[in-house]
Amino acid sequence: MAEDLSIITGSKQEQYQSLLPQIAGLLEGESDLVANLANTVAALKEQFDWLWVGFYIVKNNELVLAPFQGPVACTRIRKGKGVCGSCWTEAKTLIVSDVENFPGHIACSSLSRSEIVVPVIRNGEVIAVLDVDSEQLNQFDTTDQYYLQRIIELIRF
Ligand code: SME
Repeated sequence: MAEDLSIITGSKQEQYQSLLPQIAGLLEGESDLVANLANTVAALKEQFDWLWVGFYIVKNNELVLAPFQGPVACTRIRKGKGVCGSCWTEAKTLIVSDVENFPGHIACSSLSRSEIVVPVIRNGEVIAVLDVDSEQLNQFDTTDQYYLQRIIELIRF
């Protein structure tokens, strides 16, 4: 396993393309889920320096906070609540360009302005979500959706 992540400048696509094989390398040969989620969010945070990036995992019909990087966050989110709970209900990626325009948005940090939440779907069920928050409005687009989905596919839940 590489000791240090190689952080690059460049377009969003270039940054993801540099990061993807490095995350694959970090995950290789490790089967512990917490370890793999922790390194995945650390790598994303280092490359992109977003406000918050982390996982919530479905446990007993709630989303429960899992490895993340960023300010402390709410620990439990119910189905259908906030962007994360809506992503779970709809089983599709949600891109929110301005969180103030998303009814029911849960503000874990007042600094968050835009957000993307990608579902982790296994055997047709949402079992977790990857949530990313930015201090910038309109930070996320379909490039983030594409690459974050690919990163999620690398992880054995
Ligand atoms: N904003 C999310 C809650 C999680 S925090 O952003 C880390 C939501 O509305 O579901």
